[in-house]
Amino acid sequence: MNATMSLDKTKHYPVMLDQILRIISPQHGGTFIDCTFGGGGYSRAILKYPHTKVVAIDRDKFTEKYAENLTKKFPKRFSFFQNKFSNLSEIINLNLNPRAIIFDLGLSSFQLADPQRGFSFKSKGFLNMEMGINKYSAYDVVNTLDKRYLTKIIKVLGEERDGKIIANRIARQRTKNPIKNSKELASIITDVKKNYKKYKKNPAQKTFQAIRIFVNQELTELVLGLIAATKLLSKGGILIVVSFHSLEDKIVKYFFNLYSNLKKNPSRYLPLDENKSILFKLLSKKVITPDKKEISQNNRSRSAKLRYAIRNDKSFFYPHEFKKKFESYFEMEEVRL
Ligand SMILES: C[S@@+](CC[C@H](N)C(=O)[O-])C[C@H]1O[C@@H](n2cnc3c(N)ncnc32)[C@H](O)[C@@H]1O
Repeated sequence: MNATMSLDKTKHYPVMLDQILRIISPQHGGTFIDCTFGGGGYSRAILKYPHTKVVAIDRDKFTEKYAENLTKKFPKRFSFFQNKFSNLSEIINLNLNPRAIIFDLGLSSFQLADPQRGFSFKSKGFLNMEMGINKYSAYDVVNTLDKRYLTKIIKVLGEERDGKIIANRIARQRTKNPIKNSKELASIITDVKKNYKKYKKNPAQKTFQAIRIFVNQELTELVLGLIAATKLLSKGGILIVVSFHSLEDKIVKYFFNLYSNLKKNPSRYLPLDENKSILFKLLSKKVITPDKKEISQNNRSRSAKLRYAIRNDKSFFYPHEFKKKFESYFEMEEVRL
């Protein structure tokens, strides 16, 4: 996630903003829900159009200062809630009828750049990695989680083949002294992955991803957030998700495909529009990615994947099959320390 030389690393550049504005067309007005406010890049861009309203959410209390600026500027058109998007149904009135609900997953550049948050490999601040409203920190996970369990999360949530040796080394290290910061953790991992010079990415990247996902229960959040958003959207409402790694994209892709018109008709005897398994209209199954120009300007965007779907109808059924498919992530992320 390094910004290119031409850009200020502490500034957040909204990823695929042009594509998003094209999809949601705010020039026609309406209410938009920004589930991942961050530095407010999307919200601000939408509010430039006069007949729009934005309801924004972020779990991180540090985003409140960016939100306050917008509340002052647009007191009637902007509101902010510090909450998790899995609680969307409790925050938003069911009759709001939003034109679009947007998720831009993962970390903001502000979170990554703040050494006190512990997200970056070089950070010497407390090993935190909490986005906000968490049960435990990365320090708790790294220093107390059972070794077998640590192996599992590094392997599954980080898609890291060397999960077992990394977890063994962490477990050995913590019996001597607690692992206090991200720099220390990164160097333990780098030491295990001796041939790391061959890697394009930092050798600690996958393990950091795993621990961050676990600390923030990110996959559970995503599954529940998508379900809650679907319930809020009326016919024609748009659900947009920008994801940054394959576990997230797999969830979004599966959800949209399973409940869309483009899935092969599950019942041969029913015409497609009478089939109860449809929540969305998909214009295409193809993923949208940033263009070369954006990647060259903002390196953080290089792994972004945008998918969107249009609500088929106001009627909602609970997507049990989808939730069941990712049950193992729920079990994994719900473990108590
Ligand atoms: C990539 S940033 C969003 C940037 C934003 N689109 C912009 O243009 O400034 C992701 C934000 O989502 C927030 N976030 C991540 N998971 C969340 C969740 N489950 N509930 C609410 N906010 C979440 C993070 O705290 C972070 O601020």
